[in-house]
Amino acid sequence: MRVLLYRGDGQIGQWAEDLARALPGVETLGWQEGETLVPCDYALVWNPAPGLLSQLADVKAIFLMGAGVDAILKFGDALPAVPIVRLGDAGMAVQMAEYVAYATLRYFRRFDEYEEQARHGLWAPLPEYEKQAFTIGVMGLGKLGLRVAETMRGFGFPVRGWSRTPKEVPSVDCFAGMESLDAFLSGTRVLVSLLPLTLDTNNLLDRRRMSTLPKGAYLINVARGAQVAEPDLLALIRAGHIAGATLDVFRNEPLPAPHPFWDEPRITITPHISALTVRADAVRQIALKIAAFEAGYPVDDVVDRNLGY
Ligand code: NAP
Ligand code: GLV
Repeated sequence: MRVLLYRGDGQIGQWAEDLARALPGVETLGWQEGETLVPCDYALVWNPAPGLLSQLADVKAIFLMGAGVDAILKFGDALPAVPIVRLGDAGMAVQMAEYVAYATLRYFRRFDEYEEQARHGLWAPLPEYEKQAFTIGVMGLGKLGLRVAETMRGFGFPVRGWSRTPKEVPSVDCFAGMESLDAFLSGTRVLVSLLPLTLDTNNLLDRRRMSTLPKGAYLINVARGAQVAEPDLLALIRAGHIAGATLDVFRNEPLPAPHPFWDEPRITITPHISALTVRADAVRQIALKIAAFEAGYPVDDVVDRNLGY
């Protein structure tokens, strides 16, 4: 079996070694811009170049080395008509839970304010927030959002979730569909996005929707930056409606040097690291999925191109 490996950053050496261990007998190969690809059974890619995609029409499936699919679906009709399979959790859900727990507890326990006080040698306990009024609202109850919702529920926070189709999750107040979005937002103190970036979620968090959050709400965006109207977020923070934001993703990455987010102390910035691909877990999952394809079994996490995720 021949498998093509390609990453936009060129780092495929370890992937090739891990895949050879997981699928004995596999032949892995790379690709450089301008080359003609020899026929392959499968492709494993991240941020593929258009010149490569046009040569993948005969593979049995394209596997992604990440969870998000927006960077490949943007090629639209130029994509070969073969199944595209993304990672399903593969070690990312626990990282998302860690990140969201850290950011939420920092706000809820006022740790950032204590850090600031300590810098000034100040010993001054602050009034505590009431936990039952600190509702966590998770947008997207998929592989990652569900784990985040369950983790925050474990800390005793009231948790609500919003998805496209109706869900039942124990001890999580579930909302579904656009018609319930305002009701979901109006009772959310910490809004977490774990939605895929699609035509429906692009700019979803605009000024009107973020104003529906109660005054003093926080935003944690760990999904994709283009879901948030950035100037609207800045305006709502400056107006005091949104108390702070922890952002891991941005419309343009890396976040450009002159961007106003850098100068806003109530915005915490991380460089798209909330959940990194764990190569060993990813390779194990992809090897199992390849074995399922070869045996003719159904495979999880096949992307629905119509839905965009
Ligand atoms: P997933 O399993 O596909 O879950 C997506 C969830 O979003 C589902 O619950 C889905 O609803 C919901 N959804 C989709 N469109 C919606 C809409 N229009 N309205 C309401 N809900 C909608 O995805 P995942 O694996 O959890 O990953 C989520 C996203 O996280 C990825 O797409 C990626 O962009 C991002 N991510 C970021 C990082 C990072 O490091 N920052 C790392 C990994 C992933 P249904 O359940 O009803 O289908
Ligand atoms: C990272 O952002 C991913 O989608 O895996």
